[in-house]
Amino acid sequence: MKTKAAVLYEVGQPLVIEELELDDPKDGEVLVKNGAAGICRSDRHFMHGDAPIALPVVLGHEGAGTVEKVGPGVTSLRPGQQVILSFVPSCGRCKSCVEGHGNVCDSHGATGPFMYDGTRRLHKGDQYIHHMGKVACFSEYSVVPEAGCVPTASPIPMDKAAMIGCCVPTGVGAVIYSANVQPGSTVAVIGCGGVGLNVIMGAALVNASKIIAVDIRESQLEFAMKFGATHSVNAADRDPVAQVKELTDGRGADYTFEVFGSADTMKAAYDMTGKSGTMTVVGIAPVGAEAGINAVDIVRNEKTIRGTYYGSARSQTDFPKLADMYLSGKLNLDDLVVRHYTLDQINEAYGDMDKGEIGRGAIVY
Ligand code: APR
Ligand code: ZN
Ligand code: ZN
Repeated sequence: MKTKAAVLYEVGQPLVIEELELDDPKDGEVLVKNGAAGICRSDRHFMHGDAPIALPVVLGHEGAGTVEKVGPGVTSLRPGQQVILSFVPSCGRCKSCVEGHGNVCDSHGATGPFMYDGTRRLHKGDQYIHHMGKVACFSEYSVVPEAGCVPTASPIPMDKAAMIGCCVPTGVGAVIYSANVQPGSTVAVIGCGGVGLNVIMGAALVNASKIIAVDIRESQLEFAMKFGATHSVNAADRDPVAQVKELTDGRGADYTFEVFGSADTMKAAYDMTGKSGTMTVVGIAPVGAEAGINAVDIVRNEKTIRGTYYGSARSQTDFPKLADMYLSGKLNLDDLVVRHYTLDQINEAYGDMDKGEIGRGAIVY
């Protein structure tokens, strides 16, 4: 069949919107008609070459849609169901999956932007095109593994459902599944874009006492207050470490989150982490980046550093919980998605992200 998609042919070049061929789903695969796709910085990292990926590729990993057709052997899904897409499908059999870490599934790691059988379904004539995260939702239709489709129990507006495919589990999950933030503790969040706002929402959900939003843009900081931030720190004005310390009686925060993706912001997050505190790194820094950490301080002040990928969430069981939290009013995704675009406007959408427009943008099909 034909599908209109946005293709990255070359790093640093705009995405090319064109019609591609999409082959039928094979064993264990599903054809999804995409409903919405989020504008996430992780795609931007590939466009800028900060993260490597095989080219050409259809990007888009924060998506939701409707099952159009199921391939042979698919037993858990039927046409017409709404599904949230997981850009790390869990094979269920590798060491990581068996040990409960399907968010870093080894089988997916080994096959990356190919289907599990090592082939691709997207092509333009005889040029085959890769599928980011086996999702590739910057396309009207996607073929994805059954394990990468998480059905919703009750329908959710597609743009909100798409958020549950990346920024919601990545941000809320970093707080509740990874850092395990305790009620009454203090939290600082560096970077208040789509993912950082979800970290803030997660911290509010578990009743953190102070939730300090840190960003370089005043507009993002004002917006963060809507999601539960109690204080804001403008890192462009003055050293954010000193400002966070001032707000936490000189101690530093109990939990800090780096949600931009750079060595500098990681170092700042570490330095504003208090005694016995935990820094959780969510943002993806450019390949090769190294952050200098004070080797004495980490021991004497018993600090913990941890990374979290995809919020350490288990997509098949956690996405439905997050969807329920949205439906019961505990997660404010309605205010999160502030701009809607058509697929033809995708380069403009990423331009808006670069300009630092507030909140999340989404492509709607
Ligand atoms: N200090 C504080 N905040 C900063 C700084 C800085 N030095 N530089 C940029 N920011 C802010 C931006 O102003 C923006 O509000 O970080 C925020 C980043 O938000 P988005 O661009 O919306 O990115 P997002 O999609 O939230 O992703 C953040 O998480 O999953 C990863 O790959 C993703 O590395 C990326 C990170
Ligand atoms: Zn993402
Ligand atoms: Zn696995």
